[in-house]
Amino acid sequence: MFNLPKRKDKTKSTPQNSNSDKTTNWDRVADDYNNLIGETGDFNHKTYINPVILEILGNLQNKNIMDLACGQGYFSKILADKGAHVLGVDISEKLIEMAKENFAEKVEQNKIKFIARNAADLTNVKSNQFDAVVVNMAFHDIKELSEVMAEIARVIQIGGKLVFSIPHPWTHMAKTVKEKDNYYLRLENYRKVMEIPNKLYGEEGIMSYHRPLQFYVERLTEHKFEITDFREISREHVRADELDDKEYLEFKKEFPSFLVVGAVKRLEGE
Ligand SMILES: C[S@@+](CC[C@H](N)C(=O)[O-])C[C@H]1O[C@@H](n2cnc3c(N)ncnc32)[C@H](O)[C@@H]1O
Repeated sequence: MFNLPKRKDKTKSTPQNSNSDKTTNWDRVADDYNNLIGETGDFNHKTYINPVILEILGNLQNKNIMDLACGQGYFSKILADKGAHVLGVDISEKLIEMAKENFAEKVEQNKIKFIARNAADLTNVKSNQFDAVVVNMAFHDIKELSEVMAEIARVIQIGGKLVFSIPHPWTHMAKTVKEKDNYYLRLENYRKVMEIPNKLYGEEGIMSYHRPLQFYVERLTEHKFEITDFREISREHVRADELDDKEYLEFKKEFPSFLVVGAVKRLEGE
């Protein structure tokens, strides 16, 4: 299992770097998010994203895996079911409490440990200990991505794998336009790094962050991650009321909705 210092007193303290920044405050939507995701993830997780992440991760038996920005813990549970020892980390104390409750059996069996931390500062987590770090649909919700990448590079072993999924970056900055019978994408400000309101469940104040692909690649190479897998995933499904619109179906398939990346941590100078 992973190396975390033992807490000295048994009183419940506020976790280090707890979520004082309301712009990333997922506590307020935790109940709705938990209902949406459940034990298996929502339709997009199940159908498109998770199978690709699991394929890239490979055999998980007895591997030490960090599930960073784990939310209410469902993917940590999937990883543990495949034989991994999992450390689930999330900034939202409420989601972490839910994760502990949702998957209490795995926690009791010491298969999963959940902690509330800001991923930008994992001070209590020892270096070079994880075989893999997974960040499933979360980098775009994290403000301090450069700091987070530095922390991932610190806690992962040399040769360990970072696997992350995000909505494909163009999706934040594009609008679908219909002209006559044809659909087009209007893409604006793609190259800008931008904060965009998430509007999750109608809540104000939760932010997502648009970064062009180049931003992600630069952060990876800066920390000696070599990209080994790069999967652009198109959605094959549309809403039922859109099914008759053949042009729209073809248009949807043409552009990838999600991106899954695998990258291996190399030695300096390798
Ligand atoms: C879309 S949810 C994804 C959660 C989970 N990976 C899943 O697939 O259900 C994004 C998560 O990022 C977390 N998050 C945002 N900023 C964070 C940070 N700085 N450190 C750790 N977690 C963060 C949020 O609390 C939220 O749980």
